[in-house]
Amino acid sequence: MEKIILTGDRPTGKLHLGHYVGSLKRRVELQNSGEFDKIFIMIADAQALTDNADNPEKVRQNIIEVALDYLSAGLDPEKCTIFIQSQVPELCELAFYYMNLVTVQRLQRNPTVKQEIQMRGFSDDEENANKKGTPVGFFTYPISQASDITAFKATVVPVGIDQAPMIEQTREIVHKFNTVYGETLVLPEMMLPENSACMRLPGTDGKAKMSKSLGNCIYLSDTSKEIKKKVNSMYTDPEHLQISDPGHVEGNVVFTYLDAFSTPDHFAKYLPEYSGLDEMKDHYRRGGLGDGTCKKFLFNIMEEFLQPIRERRKEYEQDIPKVYEILRKGSEVARAKAAATLDEVKAAMKINYFDDAELIKAQAEAYRQR
Ligand code: TRP
Repeated sequence: MEKIILTGDRPTGKLHLGHYVGSLKRRVELQNSGEFDKIFIMIADAQALTDNADNPEKVRQNIIEVALDYLSAGLDPEKCTIFIQSQVPELCELAFYYMNLVTVQRLQRNPTVKQEIQMRGFSDDEENANKKGTPVGFFTYPISQASDITAFKATVVPVGIDQAPMIEQTREIVHKFNTVYGETLVLPEMMLPENSACMRLPGTDGKAKMSKSLGNCIYLSDTSKEIKKKVNSMYTDPEHLQISDPGHVEGNVVFTYLDAFSTPDHFAKYLPEYSGLDEMKDHYRRGGLGDGTCKKFLFNIMEEFLQPIRERRKEYEQDIPKVYEILRKGSEVARAKAAATLDEVKAAMKINYFDDAELIKAQAEAYRQR
């Protein structure tokens, strides 16, 4: 069986470090490993519209931002297919059929949907002043996501942990479909980030994961100056007032980021006085290691991988029509693959009437004999 990757992002903003460590970096590694027969990377504009119906312009403007972030992070259009979800209408058709295999109750139990409904304050209860209920499209997006994954026969879906319920629900749909209509769809596996600090990279405020609405993001497109400012304002340990005070590394964002990014090479290069992160953490706990030193180290590490990304971005920014051309070509390739799967799905469901010579013949025969 072919090894196929599908994954993607909603174009609601520029991509940030959370995206990078949670998925983008891994995608580039997987792309360059040569282990996969096909890689599809989707800009999920249709999914973004499920809770941005009143703001299509935001989605429209961010498609290019996400595409630029992809290309500058190292995704190579020669090695992977980058495409726009809405340009593959076959995905909607698949979702329409999958909807019959999922109950309302099952969707209501999806932990990510549940949490997102709460976060967005969707409710049309009497007490709710703005009375904004959950859009049906939003409620059913896990089904649409199952279409995204199965349309490309993805065997592997690299995502962050918050997407686990989506993959689980996709797997259930695949099981159900194959049981009811015969073996047709491919059961996907989820691939999580390896490093636990990367699973949920906190924002610079340490409060939650990075999110644009909280203003705690470091963007891949940030300038060197912006990065420095953000690193310097990172939440550390409020009890670590003087350099000589003992400090906590747990919940200290600088150390969480060092967990995610630092390597022995970085120590050799920038902080040779420590053998590695454990020794550095011990010193911080004991007291005597200042936040300034830790932040400077982190800044150096981040610049090392962000600088080439920033430079590649500058180049692509000079040729936006070329980026759209990459997306257009990618969408064509994606569409062909999704259409082939849709044909198989319709054949399995026996709703391919015009290709079903047996059906036509049998009914013609039956009518002749009446
Ligand atoms: N839900 C994903 C996100 O919010 C985006 C997405 C849409 C996706 N369809 C997908 C991810 C299919 C993986 C596979 O980032």
